[in-house]
This record gives sequence, C-alpha cells and structure tokens, in this order.
Amino acid sequence: MAVERVLSGMRPTGNLHLGHYHGVLKNWLRLQHEHECFFFVADWHALTTHYDTPEIIEESVWEMVIDWLAAGVDPANATIFIQSRVPEHAELFTLLSMITPLGWLERVPTYKDQQEKLAQKDLSTYGFLGYPLLQSADILIYKATQVPVGEDQIPHIEFTREIARRFNHIYGREVGFEEKAKAAIKKLGSKRGGLYEELRTRYQESGDDEALESARAMIEEQQGLSMGDKERLLGYLEGGGKMILLEPEHKLTPASKMPGLDGQKMSKSYNNTISLRESPDVVAKKIKTMPTDPARVRRTDPGNPEKCPVWQLHEIYSDEKIQSWVQEGCRTAGIGCIECKQPVIESVLEELKPIQERAAQYAEDPTLVKNIVAEGCERARKQARETMREVRDAMGLNYS
Ligand code: TRP
Ligand code: SF4
Repeated sequence: MAVERVLSGMRPTGNLHLGHYHGVLKNWLRLQHEHECFFFVADWHALTTHYDTPEIIEESVWEMVIDWLAAGVDPANATIFIQSRVPEHAELFTLLSMITPLGWLERVPTYKDQQEKLAQKDLSTYGFLGYPLLQSADILIYKATQVPVGEDQIPHIEFTREIARRFNHIYGREVGFEEKAKAAIKKLGSKRGGLYEELRTRYQESGDDEALESARAMIEEQQGLSMGDKERLLGYLEGGGKMILLEPEHKLTPASKMPGLDGQKMSKSYNNTISLRESPDVVAKKIKTMPTDPARVRRTDPGNPEKCPVWQLHEIYSDEKIQSWVQEGCRTAGIGCIECKQPVIESVLEELKPIQERAAQYAEDPTLVKNIVAEGCERARKQARETMREVRDAMGLNYS
C-alpha cells in the first residue's frame, strides 16, 4: 500500500467545543496514528468570511492550537502549522487561478449557500468566490492523498481534483514525454518494468481500476526513482502527460453525534455549546438548566426520554446501567430531572478534566506552543517549496 498523506484545516473563528471534539478532533487523533498527517490553522480562510473582524481570528489562532494539543493532537505524529506562515499556499493559489474557469467557482454549492446564510455580511468578494481554489492550493501543495472533511466540503475536494487534472493536462506535457516515460520504465528493471506495462495495458484497454491502483502503488513504493520519473510513470499510466499535482480523495468525517444543550446539533450559531475550556461550574450550570421533556411539569409527572435532549447526552456518556435507570425512572417519575442530569454532568467533567489540565499547561507556556508551530511550519514549508519548484518548472517560471 502506498503511504497516505492526510491534510486537513480548521478555521480559527472561535473556541472549540465538545461538538468539534466528538467530530473532527477524535477523528484526527485516530488518523495521526495511522498516516502521515498535516493539520493547519486556516487563517486566510477565516478572513474570507471574517475580513472585518480580524481580532477574532488573531485571538483564536493560538487558542485553537492549544485546544488541538490539549485534545491529544501530538506534534510528534502530526505536523501542525498555520496557513499564512507558509506563503507558498498563496503563490500556488495565484498560479492555479490562471487556469480556473469562473464558472467552476460559481458552481461550488457553498458559494451561494453561505452567501444566503451569512446574508448580513457582504460576501460578494473576490476572496470569497476564490476560497475553494485556496483550499485546492492547500491540498495540492502537500500532494495530500486523503482529506478528512465534513459532508458540506466534499464538493471542494471534487473541485480540487478537477483543478489538478486540468493543471496536469495543460502543464504536464513536456517535450519528449513518451521517450522519457519509456526510459523511466527501463529503470524499474525488467521484472517490474514488465509488470508496469502489463498493468498499464490492462487499465488502458479495459479500464481495469484495480490494475491502475496496483501500478500506482508499485511506483509509489519503488526506491531510487527521481521525482520527475515518478510523475512520468504515473502520468503515462493514464495516457496523459506528467502527473505533477495529485488528485486527492475526500475522507468523510463521521458526523458528530454530540447534541447541543437544546438537542439540536452543537454549534456556536445555535448558542448551545459546551466549550472545551468551560469551567466546571459553568458546565454544571449549563446542563442543570437544559430543557427536558415538557410533559414533566411537576416532579411527579412521568416523562419520555425520547423527547428530552438530556437523554441524547446519556446515549453518549452513560453505560447501560445508568441508561436503564433513566428510562425506568423517567417514565415512572421515579427520578427527578435534576437527579437524572447528575451523571451526565459528572461524565462531561471527567472527559474535560484531562483536556483542561493539558490546555492549562500549554497556556502557561506560550513559548512551547510557538515552538511546536514553528517546527510544524518549517516541515510543511519544506514540502510546499518542493512542490512549488515543480509547479514553476512546469509553468516555465524558473528563469534563473
Ligand atoms: N474550508 C474548510 C472549512 O471551512 C477548512 C479548510 C481550508 C480545509 N483548507 C482546507 C479543510 C484543506 C481540508 C483541507 O472547514
Ligand atoms: Fe429528561 Fe431525565 Fe428528566 Fe426524563 S428524567 S425528562 S430523561 S432529564
């Protein structure tokens, strides 16, 4: 299996809450042990919608990194960086903009959706229209193979694939491509070279996707192949030119099951969140004032957990024993709602405790956090520079 490279970004527009933790972050924690991972603070993306409140972004950048670290993102396993510290993203964005049809951008569903949703803001800006392309640059500059995203972002990954394909189509045609590809096959040795030819024929003649996959995996694993030859071999498989930019796959993040305090999805815009750094008092207060089944007006009125947002929290946090205690007690008015909420309060506090302890340690040591990010930016930048060299080369911009 070829090595997967995972890349994902998050906008710094406020505190992270339990919805982020149970959705995106837990997913990242798993991925960082399975693949090479790049996680970044998408500060330029935040500016596309928050251009008039930069102070929110400025505040949130470091706090968000602290939240990631506190949740368990491990700088030894994942490269953590800030988008604007790797200015190569902007260069790739500019270069890709030359070949991006306006119609492709206008057709991205989030463009119109977000403009309608955030109607109080003027989002008829060039930056907002172009933001999926900026996202493409983020992804393509690292040659990421897997991009974990929520459902709404899948069209952006599709768009990125189309941009990569268009780029390779236009700029991947070097003089003498066929000859160079054939010379590269020779370098694989006779056995592997023969296998490559066989798989290529199988793919080109009968569209055998498995053959394509095995050939790609073989090239990825091949030692001692130059970057140029690797791209030629990958491109030659599909009959095009050099494959300079890699088409990423989306990796759907399982939707967070974490409900908000009102039973809707937990989200800042619904004002129903418990933030990762909420103090224990506030956590307790927020849960104690949660609405319950409206049928339970008096303590003696029986209720139905299915009609109560507190039950949704029990589904996440409580074991079977507590769950049946709730079911039984609620339906028979054997327990009161305050009583019922107590185990949830305890579980949430228990979950938050180690996160908050780690967050406090990082918050007390800004230099440590800055060093982690500086190191991550350096690592990211190295890869970004390499891709930009190839891109400039392909576009005829290496004059020196
Ligand atoms: N657009 C994403 C969001 O709004 C954030 C993002 C920016 C991103 N660049 C990315 C996600 C690259 C994945 C890969 O949530
Ligand atoms: Fe909700 Fe529990 Fe009260 Fe039933 S007893 S209404 S589940 S809080």
